[in-house]
Amino acid sequence: MKVIRKNIRVPDLALMKERHERIVMLTAYDATMARLFDQAEVDILLVGDSLGNVILGLDTTIEVTLDAVIHHTRAVARGANRALIVADMPFLTYQVSSEEALRNAGRLFQAGAAAVKLEGGRGVADTVRRLTGAGLPVMGHLGLTPQHVHRLGGMRRQATNETAAEELVHDALALEAAGAFAIVLEAIPNTVAQDVTSKVRIPTIGIGAGPDCDDQILVFHDLLNLTFAPAAKFVRRYADAGSLIRSAIEHYREDIEHHAFPSDEESYHLPESAKAHLLRKA
Ligand code: KIV
Repeated sequence: MKVIRKNIRVPDLALMKERHERIVMLTAYDATMARLFDQAEVDILLVGDSLGNVILGLDTTIEVTLDAVIHHTRAVARGANRALIVADMPFLTYQVSSEEALRNAGRLFQAGAAAVKLEGGRGVADTVRRLTGAGLPVMGHLGLTPQHVHRLGGMRRQATNETAAEELVHDALALEAAGAFAIVLEAIPNTVAQDVTSKVRIPTIGIGAGPDCDDQILVFHDLLNLTFAPAAKFVRRYADAGSLIRSAIEHYREDIEHHAFPSDEESYHLPESAKAHLLRKA
């Protein structure tokens, strides 16, 4: 039976894994969506650097700045009450040194995040240790890590052979040992995700990693068909908000063009006495 928690906190996630309760995670970038997702009892809202793609129209997440993530984290924090807010650490905000990472992560917490997410495995384990040692909860991210798009040669599936799968397991164990409280697994074969999930005690959160991760996340633009490209194999469209919005706006445009909006009922009126006075003066 699902226990409805009033507010989701980082330690709840370990308990939820122990109890085999599913954690529901979704991206969010503004207060309106955060409020709606909170009402729908989404447990974790990720202010992902995917905002570069879906909000700012960029091709990669590499141009996303710390200030941009701070700006959107503040908005999400204003909209959400119940959900745990995780903010992505953008490109080059945590790779230069652990001290710089700590300072940058601190700004995301000041903006309202309760945890940060960063990409990479053993290469960032010391930084994860520094942040968690300072009391800042960290979520890891392995598999397809979009900030490494140039090294990966594109947004493609990862861990597709035995060696790469073993490397990924080592990375996951290193993140766990460094104190990460959960790991996102993106675009990897389901059996690899299953293997990682059985080997770490912290929750795994899959996106394109099959059904055997502890939990799941999607970018909400994918889920609601607010993208302008064919969906990836792992995306399920739960609504066609793109068509809904387009047809509502077309209707609005037609109403204006045909003088059908606003109507008399949608207009403010003067009291009769003032109206008569105005007409007399005209
Ligand atoms: O930035 C993001 O939205 C993400 C998810 C795809 C996990 O990192």
